[in-house]
Amino acid sequence: MARMLIRGGNPLHGTITVSGSKNSALAIMAAAGLAEEECILENVPRQYDVWTMAMILRSIGAEVWFDAAGRLHINGKGIRPVSPPYDLVRRIRASFYVAGLLLALRGYAEVPLPGGCSIGSRPVNFHIKGFEQLGAKVTIEHGCMKARAPKLTGTHYFINRASVGTTINMLLAACRAEGTTILENAAKEPEVVDVAIFLNSMGARIRGAGTDVIRIDGATRLSGVEHTIIPDRLEAATFAIAVGTVGGRVTLHNVMPEHLRSPIMKLREAGLTIEENDASLTVSGEGRMQAVDIETAVYPGFPTDLQQPFVSMLSLADGTSVVRETVFDGRFRYVDELLRMGADIKVERDTAIVRGVERLTGAPVEVTDLRAGAALMIAGLAAEGETELSQAHIIDRGYEQFDDKLRTLGADVRRVDVDEEDVPDFTVLGEASVAL
Ligand code: UD1
Repeated sequence: MARMLIRGGNPLHGTITVSGSKNSALAIMAAAGLAEEECILENVPRQYDVWTMAMILRSIGAEVWFDAAGRLHINGKGIRPVSPPYDLVRRIRASFYVAGLLLALRGYAEVPLPGGCSIGSRPVNFHIKGFEQLGAKVTIEHGCMKARAPKLTGTHYFINRASVGTTINMLLAACRAEGTTILENAAKEPEVVDVAIFLNSMGARIRGAGTDVIRIDGATRLSGVEHTIIPDRLEAATFAIAVGTVGGRVTLHNVMPEHLRSPIMKLREAGLTIEENDASLTVSGEGRMQAVDIETAVYPGFPTDLQQPFVSMLSLADGTSVVRETVFDGRFRYVDELLRMGADIKVERDTAIVRGVERLTGAPVEVTDLRAGAALMIAGLAAEGETELSQAHIIDRGYEQFDDKLRTLGADVRRVDVDEEDVPDFTVLGEASVAL
């Protein structure tokens, strides 16, 4: 298992380019399978989750490969209604997008129930209810969802919670249904909008993405197109939080500041200076940040994916912060690891009370999930002495070259004990691809 050794105390200085959005790329890779011709995607991050999604699409018959310029080609012509292997599906939650893709394309989807980060219970009941409303007959057998719909018919579906995954799966399935589908209480995340823009450029007729109500008029044919994935707002904010925690001045390129309104507001409230430009941010901080309260929410609220890194920053802030997690029910598991580093945090149900301490000390800690990995890295950057992160390969699932980028900014981070099994082999996806 990969370990990361971090010697804390170096402020971060310099410039980095933020990668393309993981969550957008995973959904758009599935959507690309709907086209009659090849699609070409730019700004796709080379991360383990992207590799896994590529392998899942290949397992059902799609061609997926990177060209020499790093663009991802996807051709879904050969997709067959077969079940992707559980060993791949269990690794990422986004694997369930293959269900919407297969239903729309072949009228039959057999997909093992997905896995993903352990951040609480993550059912797919809203997805399944949506498929049923479109006319599919769904059964769950031996941990596998089987959905059959020789014909999908437009429907009116009020999603119980504004779920990102459900909204995207419904876009995939409904854009090839007969008639009109209205999605109410739809998720408004920028990644949902990116998927809708992509599908529309292929010939779908989706209106209202980015609002609570999305209207999808079914189309009979979708064509191959080129598309550039939006920048990863979560990666950009993670680096900004790192600067808030350890100090320094960093310019982040390939950013859409308008996707980061809530985190930018909270970071400024904590004392970070943030200059916004068209497609970049310059963040600078010095000394301790101030305590601030946050409550995670669906977009445009404060993203749950940033709760964990933000708590690392707040654990060193001046004063007491109250952090409420409203999206996932198990997203404070990493707090035990921060306690080992000297943080003073008390968790009661969905709320963490973070009393800022003057220093953290390096300790052996374990990465429990992707964003927890980023949080512990950030804590390690600020801690006195050495922090040893085990299960560090989990960070590669959703951050492209996170440790390389941190080193570029002056952090003292080393990767040791890399296990071949934990490194995705990108060479199988194209000659020019490089392994992580
Ligand atoms: C996506 C993101 C994840 C992010 C989350 C919330 C991807 C691959 N992952 O996850 O990084 O943290 O949005 O912004 O894009 N729920 C149900 N039943 C369902 C579906 C969801 O109860 O059928 C619940 C979930 O357990 C959770 C809440 O709804 O409590 C929101 O989940 P959802 O928005 O669907 O998150 P994901 O799409 O899984």
